Amino acid sequence: MYHYGTFPQGFSWGVSSSAYQIEGAWNADRKGPSIWDTFTQKPVFNDDNGDIACDSYNKIEEDVAILKQLKVTHYRFSISWSRVLPDGTTKHINEAGINYYHRLVDALLAANIEPHVTLYHWDLPQALQDTGGWENEAIVFKFRDYADLIFSRFGHKVKFWITINEPYNHVLQMCLFVRAFSGISLRPGTLPYIVGHHLIKAHAEAWHLYNDTYRASQKGIISITINSDWTEPRNPYKQEDIDAARRVLQFYIGWFAHPIFNGDYNDIMKTVIRERSLAAGLPKSRLPEFSLEEIKRIKGTYDYFGFNHYTTVLTSPVNYGKLQGAGLIADRTWLDSGSSWLKVSPFGFRKILNFIKKEYGNPPIIITENGISERGPFNLNDIHRSYYYEKYINQMLKAYLLDDVDIRGFTAWTLMDNLEWATGFEERFGLFYVNRSDPNLPRVPKASAAFYTTLINCNGFPD
Ligand code: NOJ
Repeated sequence: MYHYGTFPQGFSWGVSSSAYQIEGAWNADRKGPSIWDTFTQKPVFNDDNGDIACDSYNKIEEDVAILKQLKVTHYRFSISWSRVLPDGTTKHINEAGINYYHRLVDALLAANIEPHVTLYHWDLPQALQDTGGWENEAIVFKFRDYADLIFSRFGHKVKFWITINEPYNHVLQMCLFVRAFSGISLRPGTLPYIVGHHLIKAHAEAWHLYNDTYRASQKGIISITINSDWTEPRNPYKQEDIDAARRVLQFYIGWFAHPIFNGDYNDIMKTVIRERSLAAGLPKSRLPEFSLEEIKRIKGTYDYFGFNHYTTVLTSPVNYGKLQGAGLIADRTWLDSGSSWLKVSPFGFRKILNFIKKEYGNPPIIITENGISERGPFNLNDIHRSYYYEKYINQMLKAYLLDDVDIRGFTAWTLMDNLEWATGFEERFGLFYVNRSDPNLPRVPKASAAFYTTLINCNGFPD
Protein backbone atom coordinates (compact mmCIF):
# COMPACT_ATOMS: atom_id res chain seq x y z
CA MET A 1 0.00 0.00 0.00
CA TYR A 2 1.15 3.46 -0.90
CA HIS A 3 1.70 5.82 2.01
CA TYR A 4 1.37 9.59 2.08
CA GLY A 5 3.48 11.83 4.26
CA THR A 6 6.73 13.72 4.40
CA PHE A 7 10.12 13.31 5.97
CA PRO A 8 11.21 15.58 8.83
CA GLN A 9 12.35 19.09 8.13
CA GLY A 10 16.05 19.14 7.38
CA PHE A 11 15.95 15.64 5.84
CA SER A 12 18.93 15.43 3.52
CA TRP A 13 18.51 14.41 -0.13
CA GLY A 14 21.52 13.57 -2.25
CA VAL A 15 23.19 11.56 -4.95
CA SER A 16 26.32 9.46 -4.76
CA SER A 17 29.38 8.64 -6.86
CA SER A 18 32.90 7.31 -6.34
CA ALA A 19 36.30 8.42 -7.56
CA TYR A 20 37.35 5.51 -9.75
CA GLN A 21 33.92 5.24 -11.32
CA ILE A 22 33.76 8.86 -12.52
CA GLU A 23 37.03 10.79 -12.31
CA GLY A 24 39.17 9.43 -15.13
CA ALA A 25 42.54 11.25 -15.37
CA TRP A 26 43.99 8.06 -14.01
CA ASN A 27 47.60 9.21 -14.30
CA ALA A 28 47.20 13.00 -14.51
CA ASP A 29 49.14 15.45 -12.38
CA ARG A 30 51.29 12.82 -10.66
CA LYS A 31 48.42 10.64 -9.47
CA GLY A 32 49.67 7.20 -8.45
CA PRO A 33 47.96 4.08 -9.79
CA SER A 34 45.33 2.33 -7.71
CA ILE A 35 44.63 -1.40 -7.79
CA TRP A 36 41.76 -0.71 -10.16
CA ASP A 37 44.04 1.12 -12.57
CA THR A 38 46.35 -1.88 -12.54
CA PHE A 39 43.62 -4.46 -13.06
CA THR A 40 41.95 -2.65 -15.88
CA GLN A 41 45.15 -2.02 -17.80
CA LYS A 42 44.75 -5.63 -18.79
CA PRO A 43 41.86 -6.14 -21.17
CA VAL A 44 39.20 -7.39 -18.82
CA PHE A 45 35.55 -6.38 -18.41
CA ASN A 46 34.62 -5.62 -22.05
CA ASP A 47 37.89 -3.67 -22.29
CA ASP A 48 36.26 -0.95 -20.24
CA ASN A 49 38.35 0.90 -17.69
CA GLY A 50 38.39 4.07 -15.62
CA ASP A 51 41.13 5.85 -17.59
CA ILE A 52 38.61 8.47 -18.69
CA ALA A 53 35.38 7.31 -16.99
CA CYS A 54 33.12 10.41 -16.89
CA ASP A 55 36.14 12.73 -16.93
CA SER A 56 34.89 14.34 -13.73
CA TYR A 57 38.46 15.37 -12.93
CA ASN A 58 38.06 17.94 -15.70
CA LYS A 59 34.35 18.59 -15.35
CA ILE A 60 33.70 20.07 -11.93
CA GLU A 61 31.48 22.77 -13.38
CA GLU A 62 29.33 20.36 -15.38
CA ASP A 63 28.93 18.00 -12.44
CA VAL A 64 27.95 20.75 -10.04
CA ALA A 65 25.53 22.15 -12.62
CA ILE A 66 23.62 18.87 -12.83
CA LEU A 67 23.65 18.54 -9.04
CA LYS A 68 22.05 21.97 -8.86
CA GLN A 69 19.52 20.94 -11.47
CA LEU A 70 18.55 17.98 -9.28
CA LYS A 71 18.16 20.28 -6.26
CA VAL A 72 19.97 17.86 -4.00
CA THR A 73 21.08 19.08 -0.58
CA HIS A 74 24.16 16.87 -0.45
CA TYR A 75 26.58 15.15 -2.83
CA ARG A 76 28.43 12.01 -1.79
CA PHE A 77 31.75 11.43 -3.57
CA SER A 78 34.99 9.72 -2.66
CA ILE A 79 38.59 10.82 -2.57
CA SER A 80 41.07 8.78 -4.55
CA TRP A 81 43.76 7.85 -2.02
CA SER A 82 46.46 7.55 -4.68
CA ARG A 83 45.54 10.90 -6.24
CA VAL A 84 46.49 12.67 -3.02
CA LEU A 85 49.14 10.18 -1.86
CA PRO A 86 50.59 8.56 -4.99
CA ASP A 87 52.36 5.78 -3.09
CA GLY A 88 49.72 5.57 -0.39
CA THR A 89 51.93 7.06 2.33
CA THR A 90 52.22 10.61 3.62
CA LYS A 91 55.86 10.75 2.50
CA HIS A 92 54.74 12.31 -0.79
CA ILE A 93 51.70 14.55 -0.80
CA ASN A 94 50.36 15.39 -4.23
CA GLU A 95 49.14 18.97 -3.94
CA ALA A 96 47.60 18.86 -7.41
CA GLY A 97 45.30 16.08 -6.22
CA ILE A 98 44.45 17.94 -3.01
CA ASN A 99 43.70 21.00 -5.10
CA TYR A 100 41.21 19.12 -7.29
CA TYR A 101 39.15 18.15 -4.25
CA HIS A 102 39.33 21.69 -2.86
CA ARG A 103 37.95 23.04 -6.12
CA LEU A 104 35.16 20.44 -6.05
CA VAL A 105 34.27 21.09 -2.40
CA ASP A 106 34.35 24.87 -2.92
CA ALA A 107 32.05 24.60 -5.93
CA LEU A 108 29.62 22.44 -3.93
CA LEU A 109 29.60 24.81 -0.98
CA ALA A 110 29.07 27.79 -3.30
CA ALA A 111 26.02 25.93 -4.68
CA ASN A 112 24.78 25.25 -1.14
CA ILE A 113 25.31 21.49 -1.54
CA GLU A 114 26.84 19.71 1.43
CA PRO A 115 29.81 17.48 0.60
CA HIS A 116 29.56 13.93 2.02
CA VAL A 117 33.03 12.53 1.60
CA THR A 118 34.03 8.86 1.51
CA LEU A 119 37.69 8.28 2.26
CA TYR A 120 37.88 4.83 0.73
CA HIS A 121 35.71 3.52 -2.07
CA TRP A 122 37.84 0.49 -3.03
CA ASP A 123 40.64 2.13 -5.07
CA LEU A 124 43.61 1.14 -2.92
CA PRO A 125 46.95 2.67 -3.95
CA GLN A 126 48.81 0.00 -5.91
CA ALA A 127 51.95 0.69 -3.87
CA LEU A 128 50.10 -0.49 -0.76
CA GLN A 129 48.79 -3.58 -2.52
CA ASP A 130 52.41 -4.34 -3.35
CA THR A 131 53.15 -4.64 0.37
CA GLY A 132 50.17 -6.89 1.07
CA GLY A 133 47.24 -4.50 0.85
CA TRP A 134 44.40 -5.24 3.26
CA GLU A 135 45.95 -8.56 4.13
CA ASN A 136 48.81 -6.79 5.91
CA GLU A 137 47.85 -5.23 9.24
CA ALA A 138 50.19 -2.29 8.58
CA ILE A 139 47.43 -0.93 6.35
CA VAL A 140 45.42 0.05 9.42
CA PHE A 141 47.84 2.82 10.29
CA LYS A 142 48.49 3.79 6.68
CA PHE A 143 44.75 4.39 6.41
CA ARG A 144 44.75 6.41 9.62
CA ASP A 145 47.62 8.60 8.32
CA TYR A 146 45.75 9.17 5.07
CA ALA A 147 42.60 10.08 7.01
CA ASP A 148 44.67 12.45 9.17
CA LEU A 149 45.88 14.30 6.10
CA ILE A 150 42.37 14.60 4.69
CA PHE A 151 40.80 15.78 7.97
CA SER A 152 43.55 18.35 8.44
CA ARG A 153 43.21 19.73 4.92
CA PHE A 154 39.43 19.54 4.42
CA GLY A 155 37.84 19.36 7.85
CA HIS A 156 37.12 23.10 7.98
CA LYS A 157 34.89 22.63 4.92
CA VAL A 158 33.67 19.03 5.09
CA LYS A 159 31.40 18.08 8.00
CA PHE A 160 30.23 14.65 6.90
CA TRP A 161 32.66 11.76 6.59
CA ILE A 162 32.40 8.11 5.61
CA THR A 163 35.52 6.09 6.35
CA ILE A 164 35.00 3.01 4.17
CA ASN A 165 32.41 2.08 1.57
CA GLU A 166 30.80 -1.36 1.71
CA PRO A 167 33.49 -3.45 3.40
CA TYR A 168 31.44 -6.56 2.63
CA ASN A 169 31.55 -6.10 -1.12
CA HIS A 170 35.15 -4.97 -1.01
CA VAL A 171 36.11 -8.20 0.69
CA LEU A 172 34.29 -10.24 -1.93
CA GLN A 173 35.80 -8.16 -4.67
CA MET A 174 39.32 -8.58 -3.36
CA CYS A 175 38.97 -12.29 -2.83
CA LEU A 176 37.00 -13.60 -5.72
CA PHE A 177 37.10 -11.19 -8.51
CA VAL A 178 40.55 -9.68 -8.21
CA ARG A 179 42.11 -13.09 -7.82
CA ALA A 180 40.45 -14.28 -10.98
CA PHE A 181 41.55 -11.37 -13.10
CA SER A 182 44.82 -10.07 -11.74
CA GLY A 183 46.77 -13.15 -10.88
CA ILE A 184 47.33 -11.75 -7.39
CA SER A 185 47.13 -14.79 -5.25
CA LEU A 186 44.56 -14.42 -2.54
CA ARG A 187 43.65 -17.32 -0.34
CA PRO A 188 39.95 -18.04 -0.31
CA GLY A 189 38.66 -19.26 2.99
CA THR A 190 40.77 -17.37 5.48
CA LEU A 191 41.54 -14.28 3.49
CA PRO A 192 38.10 -12.66 3.47
CA TYR A 193 38.05 -12.66 7.23
CA ILE A 194 41.53 -11.18 7.52
CA VAL A 195 40.73 -8.43 5.04
CA GLY A 196 37.45 -7.74 6.84
CA HIS A 197 39.24 -7.65 10.20
CA HIS A 198 41.67 -5.00 9.00
CA LEU A 199 38.95 -2.95 7.35
CA ILE A 200 37.09 -2.81 10.67
CA LYS A 201 40.23 -1.81 12.57
CA ALA A 202 41.14 0.83 9.99
CA HIS A 203 37.66 2.33 10.24
CA ALA A 204 37.86 2.38 14.04
CA GLU A 205 41.27 4.08 14.06
CA ALA A 206 40.09 6.79 11.66
CA TRP A 207 36.98 7.35 13.78
CA HIS A 208 39.03 7.70 16.97
CA LEU A 209 41.45 10.05 15.30
CA TYR A 210 38.60 12.30 14.21
CA ASN A 211 36.89 12.03 17.57
CA ASP A 212 40.00 12.82 19.63
CA THR A 213 41.76 15.34 17.43
CA TYR A 214 39.35 17.05 15.08
CA ARG A 215 35.79 16.83 16.31
CA ALA A 216 35.95 19.67 18.83
CA SER A 217 37.17 22.20 16.29
CA GLN A 218 35.64 20.85 13.08
CA LYS A 219 32.27 19.74 14.47
CA GLY A 220 31.53 17.11 11.86
CA ILE A 221 30.24 13.55 11.97
CA ILE A 222 31.90 10.35 10.81
CA SER A 223 30.90 6.75 10.33
CA ILE A 224 31.11 3.80 7.97
CA THR A 225 28.83 2.73 5.10
CA ILE A 226 27.66 -0.87 5.38
CA ASN A 227 25.67 -2.64 2.67
CA SER A 228 23.22 -5.46 2.88
CA ASP A 229 20.39 -7.06 1.02
CA TRP A 230 17.34 -8.02 3.04
CA THR A 231 17.18 -11.79 3.51
CA GLU A 232 13.67 -13.17 3.31
CA PRO A 233 12.92 -16.80 4.19
CA ARG A 234 12.19 -18.62 0.95
CA ASN A 235 9.23 -20.22 2.65
CA PRO A 236 8.10 -17.97 5.50
CA TYR A 237 6.23 -20.90 7.13
CA LYS A 238 9.29 -23.13 7.35
CA GLN A 239 11.42 -22.69 10.46
CA GLU A 240 14.62 -23.80 8.70
CA ASP A 241 14.21 -21.07 6.08
CA ILE A 242 13.56 -18.50 8.80
CA ASP A 243 16.73 -19.62 10.58
CA ALA A 244 18.69 -19.48 7.32
CA ALA A 245 17.56 -15.90 6.76
CA ARG A 246 18.78 -14.94 10.23
CA ARG A 247 22.14 -16.59 9.63
CA VAL A 248 22.76 -14.99 6.26
CA LEU A 249 21.91 -11.58 7.65
CA GLN A 250 24.52 -12.02 10.38
CA PHE A 251 27.14 -12.92 7.77
CA TYR A 252 26.10 -9.92 5.73
CA ILE A 253 25.16 -6.75 7.61
CA GLY A 254 26.18 -8.33 10.91
CA TRP A 255 29.79 -9.03 9.93
CA PHE A 256 30.69 -5.35 10.05
CA ALA A 257 27.81 -3.79 11.98
CA HIS A 258 28.02 -6.01 15.04
CA PRO A 259 31.61 -5.17 16.02
CA ILE A 260 31.03 -1.45 15.43
CA PHE A 261 27.55 -1.03 16.91
CA ASN A 262 27.29 -3.85 19.46
CA GLY A 263 30.87 -5.03 20.06
CA ASP A 264 32.75 -8.05 18.66
CA TYR A 265 31.71 -10.44 15.88
CA ASN A 266 28.23 -11.84 16.28
CA ASP A 267 27.76 -15.29 17.81
CA ILE A 268 26.27 -16.81 14.69
CA MET A 269 29.34 -15.97 12.62
CA LYS A 270 31.69 -17.10 15.35
CA THR A 271 29.92 -20.44 15.76
CA VAL A 272 29.37 -21.25 12.09
CA ILE A 273 32.89 -20.35 10.97
CA ARG A 274 34.47 -22.20 13.87
CA GLU A 275 32.47 -25.35 13.18
CA ARG A 276 33.30 -25.25 9.52
CA SER A 277 36.99 -24.55 10.10
CA LEU A 278 37.33 -27.48 12.49
CA ALA A 279 35.38 -29.72 10.11
CA ALA A 280 37.88 -28.76 7.40
CA GLY A 281 40.70 -29.98 9.64
CA LEU A 282 42.02 -26.53 10.59
CA PRO A 283 43.36 -26.10 14.12
CA LYS A 284 41.23 -23.02 14.80
CA SER A 285 38.53 -20.79 13.37
CA ARG A 286 39.26 -18.93 10.18
CA LEU A 287 37.60 -15.89 11.74
CA PRO A 288 40.27 -13.87 13.55
CA GLU A 289 39.55 -12.81 17.11
CA PHE A 290 39.50 -9.31 18.52
CA SER A 291 41.16 -8.89 21.91
CA LEU A 292 39.01 -7.48 24.71
CA GLU A 293 40.73 -4.14 24.30
CA GLU A 294 40.08 -4.16 20.56
CA ILE A 295 36.43 -5.01 21.10
CA LYS A 296 36.10 -1.97 23.34
CA ARG A 297 38.03 0.28 20.98
CA ILE A 298 35.89 -0.67 17.97
CA LYS A 299 32.49 -0.64 19.68
CA GLY A 300 30.77 2.71 19.34
CA THR A 301 32.91 4.07 16.52
CA TYR A 302 29.96 5.60 14.71
CA ASP A 303 27.95 8.80 14.61
CA TYR A 304 25.25 7.38 12.33
CA PHE A 305 24.54 4.15 10.44
CA GLY A 306 25.57 4.66 6.78
CA PHE A 307 23.58 2.14 4.79
CA ASN A 308 23.59 1.02 1.14
CA HIS A 309 20.64 -1.07 0.04
CA TYR A 310 19.37 -2.33 -3.31
CA THR A 311 17.56 -5.65 -3.15
CA THR A 312 16.25 -8.73 -1.32
CA VAL A 313 17.31 -12.38 -1.52
CA LEU A 314 15.41 -15.52 -0.60
CA THR A 315 17.12 -17.88 1.78
CA SER A 316 16.95 -21.53 2.67
CA PRO A 317 19.52 -23.75 4.42
CA VAL A 318 21.32 -24.84 1.27
CA ASN A 319 22.46 -21.38 0.42
CA TYR A 320 23.16 -19.54 3.65
CA GLY A 321 26.38 -17.62 4.16
CA LYS A 322 27.31 -16.17 0.81
CA LEU A 323 30.98 -16.79 1.40
CA GLN A 324 30.43 -20.45 2.08
CA GLY A 325 27.58 -21.35 -0.14
CA ALA A 326 25.94 -21.05 -3.51
CA GLY A 327 24.33 -17.83 -4.63
CA LEU A 328 21.14 -16.71 -3.04
CA ILE A 329 18.03 -16.55 -5.12
CA ALA A 330 15.27 -14.13 -6.01
CA ASP A 331 11.57 -14.54 -6.57
CA ARG A 332 10.92 -14.82 -10.30
CA THR A 333 7.99 -12.47 -10.12
CA TRP A 334 10.13 -9.54 -8.93
CA LEU A 335 10.94 -7.07 -11.66
CA ASP A 336 14.40 -7.25 -13.19
CA SER A 337 17.10 -4.62 -13.58
CA GLY A 338 20.29 -4.38 -15.65
CA SER A 339 22.19 -6.17 -12.85
CA SER A 340 21.95 -9.91 -12.30
CA TRP A 341 21.90 -9.45 -8.52
CA LEU A 342 19.30 -6.69 -8.36
CA LYS A 343 15.57 -7.43 -8.37
CA VAL A 344 12.96 -4.87 -7.49
CA SER A 345 11.81 -5.81 -4.01
CA PRO A 346 10.91 -2.64 -2.09
CA PHE A 347 9.28 -4.41 0.88
CA GLY A 348 12.74 -5.56 2.00
CA PHE A 349 13.87 -1.97 2.49
CA ARG A 350 11.35 -1.33 5.27
CA LYS A 351 12.18 -4.68 6.84
CA ILE A 352 15.92 -4.16 6.94
CA LEU A 353 15.54 -0.62 8.25
CA ASN A 354 13.50 -2.06 11.11
CA PHE A 355 16.15 -4.73 11.61
CA ILE A 356 18.84 -2.04 11.93
CA LYS A 357 16.73 -0.12 14.42
CA LYS A 358 16.18 -3.17 16.59
CA GLU A 359 19.52 -4.91 16.26
CA TYR A 360 21.85 -1.91 16.53
CA GLY A 361 20.22 0.30 19.15
CA ASN A 362 18.10 2.65 17.05
CA PRO A 363 20.96 4.62 15.49
CA PRO A 364 20.37 7.61 13.20
CA ILE A 365 20.46 6.16 9.67
CA ILE A 366 21.64 7.83 6.49
CA ILE A 367 20.96 5.92 3.30
CA THR A 368 24.21 6.40 1.42
CA GLU A 369 23.18 4.45 -1.71
CA ASN A 370 20.04 3.06 -3.35
CA GLY A 371 19.23 2.71 -7.03
CA ILE A 372 18.61 0.57 -10.08
CA SER A 373 20.41 -0.14 -13.35
CA GLU A 374 19.55 -0.79 -16.99
CA ARG A 375 21.46 -2.28 -19.92
CA GLY A 376 21.12 -2.24 -23.64
CA PRO A 377 20.14 0.64 -25.94
CA PHE A 378 19.89 3.92 -24.14
CA ASN A 379 16.46 5.21 -23.30
CA LEU A 380 15.98 8.50 -21.55
CA ASN A 381 12.48 7.51 -20.55
CA ASP A 382 13.61 5.32 -17.65
CA ILE A 383 10.26 4.66 -16.04
CA HIS A 384 11.67 1.63 -14.23
CA ARG A 385 13.95 3.97 -12.25
CA SER A 386 11.18 6.37 -11.23
CA TYR A 387 9.09 3.35 -10.28
CA TYR A 388 11.95 1.93 -8.21
CA TYR A 389 12.59 5.18 -6.35
CA GLU A 390 8.93 5.82 -5.73
CA LYS A 391 8.43 2.37 -4.21
CA TYR A 392 11.68 2.22 -2.23
CA ILE A 393 11.40 5.74 -0.87
CA ASN A 394 7.78 5.05 0.03
CA GLN A 395 8.91 2.02 2.06
CA MET A 396 11.50 4.23 3.73
CA LEU A 397 8.71 6.69 4.55
CA LYS A 398 6.73 3.92 6.20
CA ALA A 399 9.75 2.92 8.23
CA TYR A 400 10.12 6.52 9.37
CA LEU A 401 6.49 7.46 9.97
CA LEU A 402 4.92 4.18 11.05
CA ASP A 403 7.85 2.31 12.62
CA ASP A 404 9.81 5.24 14.11
CA VAL A 405 13.05 4.32 12.39
CA ASP A 406 15.39 7.31 12.76
CA ILE A 407 16.20 8.04 9.10
CA ARG A 408 17.97 11.33 8.45
CA GLY A 409 18.85 11.30 4.77
CA PHE A 410 18.71 9.48 1.46
CA THR A 411 21.32 9.26 -1.29
CA ALA A 412 20.51 7.92 -4.75
CA TRP A 413 23.09 5.83 -6.59
CA THR A 414 24.06 7.45 -8.87
CA LEU A 415 24.44 10.93 -10.31
CA MET A 416 25.35 9.76 -13.83
CA ASP A 417 26.10 6.56 -15.73
CA ASN A 418 29.62 5.46 -14.85
CA LEU A 419 31.99 2.52 -14.69
CA GLU A 420 30.11 -0.25 -12.88
CA TRP A 421 33.25 -2.08 -11.74
CA ALA A 422 33.38 -5.59 -13.24
CA THR A 423 30.66 -4.96 -15.78
CA GLY A 424 32.05 -1.72 -17.18
CA PHE A 425 29.85 0.96 -18.75
CA GLU A 426 27.12 -1.46 -19.87
CA GLU A 427 25.33 -1.53 -16.55
CA ARG A 428 23.99 1.99 -16.00
CA PHE A 429 22.67 3.34 -12.69
CA GLY A 430 22.64 7.08 -13.50
CA LEU A 431 19.94 9.71 -13.13
CA PHE A 432 21.87 11.31 -16.00
CA TYR A 433 22.89 9.50 -19.14
CA VAL A 434 26.50 10.03 -20.25
CA ASN A 435 26.80 9.94 -24.01
CA ARG A 436 30.05 8.04 -24.50
CA SER A 437 30.02 8.38 -28.26
CA ASP A 438 30.54 12.14 -27.88
CA PRO A 439 34.12 12.94 -26.77
CA ASN A 440 32.77 15.70 -24.51
CA LEU A 441 30.84 13.08 -22.52
CA PRO A 442 27.75 15.27 -22.12
CA ARG A 443 25.42 14.53 -19.22
CA VAL A 444 21.79 14.25 -20.30
CA PRO A 445 18.96 13.97 -17.76
CA LYS A 446 16.85 10.83 -17.83
CA ALA A 447 13.18 11.18 -16.91
CA SER A 448 13.92 9.88 -13.41
CA ALA A 449 16.09 12.95 -12.68
CA ALA A 450 13.02 15.21 -12.74
CA PHE A 451 11.05 12.60 -10.81
CA TYR A 452 13.67 12.54 -8.06
CA THR A 453 13.64 16.34 -7.93
CA THR A 454 9.88 16.24 -7.38
CA LEU A 455 10.34 13.93 -4.41
CA ILE A 456 13.01 16.27 -3.05
CA ASN A 457 10.83 19.36 -3.56
CA CYS A 458 7.94 17.66 -1.75
CA ASN A 459 10.21 16.12 0.91
CA GLY A 460 8.38 12.85 0.33
CA PHE A 461 4.77 12.16 -0.65
CA PRO A 462 2.44 14.88 0.62
CA ASP A 463 -1.35 14.31 0.48
C1 NOJ B 1 27.77 -0.38 -4.51
C2 NOJ B 1 28.99 0.46 -4.67
O1 NOJ B 1 29.29 1.24 -3.57
C3 NOJ B 1 29.01 1.26 -5.96
O2 NOJ B 1 30.33 1.59 -6.22
C4 NOJ B 1 28.35 0.46 -7.06
O3 NOJ B 1 28.51 1.05 -8.31
C5 NOJ B 1 26.89 0.33 -6.72
N1 NOJ B 1 26.73 -0.30 -5.42
C6 NOJ B 1 26.06 -0.45 -7.75
O4 NOJ B 1 26.52 -1.74 -7.86
